Amino acid sequence: MTEQLTSPTPVRHTTGQHPGPGWWRDAVIYQVYVRSFADSDGDGIGDLRGVRARLPYLKELGVDALWLTPFYASPQADGGYDVADHRSVDPLFGSLEDADALIRAAHASGLRVIIDIVPNHTSDRHPWFRDPELARERYLFRPGRGTGGELPPNDWESVFGGPAWTRTERGDWYLHLFAPEQPDLNWDNPDVHAEFEAILRFWLDLGVDGFRIDVAHGMVKAPGLPDIGCDSQATLIGSQTLPFFDQDGVHAIHRSWRTLLDSYGGARIGVAEAWAPTPERLALYVRPDELHQAFNFQFLTARWEKEALREVIDASLAATASVGAPTTWVLSNHDVVRHATRLGSLARARAATLLMLALPGSAYLYQGEELGLPEVTELPDEARQDPAFTRRAGRSSGQEGLRDGCRVPLPWAADGPSYGFGDGGSWLPQPAGWGGLSVAAQTGDVDSTLELYRAALALRRALPGLGDGEMSWREAPDGVLAFARPGVVCTVNTTGRDIAFEAPGRLLLASTPLPVRGAAAVLPGDACAWWAI
Ligand code: GLC
Repeated sequence: MTEQLTSPTPVRHTTGQHPGPGWWRDAVIYQVYVRSFADSDGDGIGDLRGVRARLPYLKELGVDALWLTPFYASPQADGGYDVADHRSVDPLFGSLEDADALIRAAHASGLRVIIDIVPNHTSDRHPWFRDPELARERYLFRPGRGTGGELPPNDWESVFGGPAWTRTERGDWYLHLFAPEQPDLNWDNPDVHAEFEAILRFWLDLGVDGFRIDVAHGMVKAPGLPDIGCDSQATLIGSQTLPFFDQDGVHAIHRSWRTLLDSYGGARIGVAEAWAPTPERLALYVRPDELHQAFNFQFLTARWEKEALREVIDASLAATASVGAPTTWVLSNHDVVRHATRLGSLARARAATLLMLALPGSAYLYQGEELGLPEVTELPDEARQDPAFTRRAGRSSGQEGLRDGCRVPLPWAADGPSYGFGDGGSWLPQPAGWGGLSVAAQTGDVDSTLELYRAALALRRALPGLGDGEMSWREAPDGVLAFARPGVVCTVNTTGRDIAFEAPGRLLLASTPLPVRGAAAVLPGDACAWWAI
């Protein structure tokens, strides 16, 4: 029996009053984890020249912009999120000239470039932290508790596990919400504000199109640094406001950066990596005078289930509409288990991607998801470099430290020393069989995940109804999500079984082969299809 997908009273969503067109409102932005993308000099570590050499691939894939993870001078205690000099490129990744050449080449091929900025903390090798006088004012030092000051100043835990404080030789303590090599900056100090404005200007002058702002919810701490009063605080991140995250004071910083961004032509954007407890709290970061986008981690963490997905989609659209911002969607990044593994199967991952690319707003892709790469779970302990890995032993909370599993260098060729990643090895071992998932192996194979992404991105470009704009839900059988965009219907079967239904239009693209006979169609389990209406 076939079921009707059409509802006479669709629920409508719009992204609110548009403050004006902007390229980012429906952009597909591809995250390049520089260290693992392409290695031009055979040292086993990806670099900026490697990215430049692969720009034609990204252009052909059909994305609008790249986001480059930190490539600044850094001891690499946390994959470069421990910055020692914000105005120079780490020799591991190249030189400032290479960064300049990459930005120019990307622009020449019509791709925009966003770079990562890390304002919550620096490296402990940053000149400010190495100078005892400067350090006292520009970081967060406090006396300890206990009779001899031998206890940390409060009960805060590091996101990577263990106390968020480290004691110095002088006997006082400094705050680090992440690794001890990443001391938190004191944003009550005007010098810190001035320095970050100068850093933003430095890169804007070099031509970048915007910034992904690392830990954008972290710079301001609650006055007095009060105790939280419970353990396992990392499990609370994103579900409730903590005295070190999502404090109202961060918004003044974002507002000042928006003024700075607007003073440059060409629509330069700010994107918040902010873990906020609700979509409404997250929307505060994208008010008209703040940042342009915020990552939608509620979508990333949603269960593969009709009601859960619909709820998070509705809540995300409503929250961003209330401030006139576009919604963003993301399924994978360098900090989480790849969605081909997290969702339980490649079929679901492919369906989830088509769902994401049919929703209104902007979408973020993480390198390698277009190859359907799974999480690498079998890495030897000695190869792992995630700082949370060594800190997690015996800890009850904190990140699990397994983020290297999504950071394994990309396979470009079916064989060779590092499957075309470079002429040498690769800084994390690639699994045997990785060549079968390579760009070369998938190119031209219509059933491959790479060709699915290419087809979806080409359609998204060709169909003006996709991207930013209206959507309305349609009634659908249990376990099936169906919604209309101008000219397109998207259907997603979140169940594991085939569901017969009346085809809502002409089939455009499906995440798995889909039988259609006249008006009768069958949507296989864990599949998504786009239809022209
Ligand atoms: C962000 C980054 C993550 C890093 C952390 C500390 O969450 O995405 O990789 O470890 O900030 O900078």
